[in-house]
Amino acid sequence: MKKGFPNDFLWGAAISNVQAEGGYLEDGKGLNVYDTLKVIPEPGIPPMFCSTDVASDHYHRYKEDIALMKEMGFKALRFSVVWSRIHPLGYEVEPNAAGLDFYEDMVDELLKAGIEPVVSLVHFDMPDHLYRKYNGFMSREVIQFFERHVGDVVKRLKGKVKYYITYNEINTAPFYSRLVSGSKKDNTMSNAQYFSQLSYNTALAHSVAANKIKEIDPLAKVSGMVAFQPRYPLHCTSEDMLAADFVNKMWNLLPFDIMTSGKLPDYFIQYMENREIRIHMEENDKEIIKESSKLIDFLAFSQYQTGVTTTIEEISIENSIELEDALLSNPKMLKNPNYPANEWGWQIDPEGLRYSLRFLYDRYHLPLFIVESGIGIDEKLVDGKVYDDQRIDYYHNHIASIKRAVVHDGVDLMGYLAWSPIDFLSSHKEIRKRYGFIYVNREKDDLLDLNRFRKKSFYWYKKVIASNGEDLINNIDY
Ligand code: BG6
Repeated sequence: MKKGFPNDFLWGAAISNVQAEGGYLEDGKGLNVYDTLKVIPEPGIPPMFCSTDVASDHYHRYKEDIALMKEMGFKALRFSVVWSRIHPLGYEVEPNAAGLDFYEDMVDELLKAGIEPVVSLVHFDMPDHLYRKYNGFMSREVIQFFERHVGDVVKRLKGKVKYYITYNEINTAPFYSRLVSGSKKDNTMSNAQYFSQLSYNTALAHSVAANKIKEIDPLAKVSGMVAFQPRYPLHCTSEDMLAADFVNKMWNLLPFDIMTSGKLPDYFIQYMENREIRIHMEENDKEIIKESSKLIDFLAFSQYQTGVTTTIEEISIENSIELEDALLSNPKMLKNPNYPANEWGWQIDPEGLRYSLRFLYDRYHLPLFIVESGIGIDEKLVDGKVYDDQRIDYYHNHIASIKRAVVHDGVDLMGYLAWSPIDFLSSHKEIRKRYGFIYVNREKDDLLDLNRFRKKSFYWYKKVIASNGEDLINNIDY
């Protein structure tokens, strides 16, 4: 039995640059879907949306932010290259040099600080022009533009960046499609047709990116990435087991299944056959997808919460298609009566993370990397301090749980990246929902001074990293 986390375990955190940078249209950046998105609030939450022009001003303060991460002892930082900073309209033949300079400088700064960069290539940042003109990843042309974008980034960062993530939370594309894939369902299409085509196209986008990365930099390590949200059956009935199995496959597993096997899984083919769905595929696709499956080095995923699924009472189980369609068109999770939740209703289930690690390792036998895990809290700065014991508690329990997966279950886990190092806008453009170890002093409408303050969890996480995950006690004198 292993004693603890491996010595080269990658402790750190992750940023979505489109949510943190600001630097709106500076240095040639173009608009992207996150800039232009009108967000639908999370259920029960009053809209508190911020504009993206300043966000946390990471664009201008990244050196200060990286210095704080170094102080915490980070071994790795995951960040995303904003596509519309490199290709303002999404498809320029010549990339914007200022955009590439910016990210290369960020990488240099990280390496100087002894922090391994982990780079995501698309993270809620489809150039707005590609959304409006081509309908994002629903279009084959956009997949080619993405390939060009990936090529330009990797050519510039070759030899400096070892870890790449092709596509952030690829499995959520059919459900939050404008943000995640820059696409919109056309009214003539059924939900099932849209789900099938977009799942296919995004899988192809991943493959094209993985192949491109390895072509340019064969030493780079590549992964796809999903938002993993295991669904438990609400009742101990076979009907609920089947419902949960269906949702788990379609929501959680489909992209990893394609990425690792290099083909469409039988359950997905059957799903389309049952509905007489034909999707657009091209001659070389099979080869591209197959090739990329040989190049995957690890599997990255985010996990914030687990959820619950049950059959829909008004639909009889004989009507399987209607039942599945209803289950899939409502990706929102039911509440699990066994776990508490944060203010946004995200349920806290630390051992669920161990469950995912065991499950994913058994299914794919590839090294795993947790690249997002954290809790959003509405916090106030008082006398320069934030006592975020709730966050410490969350991380304490999650890290203890993954340690059981590593030590007891033998899972090959490369690292744990918390969400997030600093506060920045949520995917719903809220600053009220804070995730950082570092408080960023701004409110929704008042930018204040944007100064950075170390929360209590900053010192706690520093101690965790210094002890390689052995010392999780919350005994910080703050
Ligand atoms: C993941 C995304 O979905 O979860 C992030 O990759 C996002 O970009 C994070 O910010 C937390 O979600 P939210 O909606 O609270 O910001």
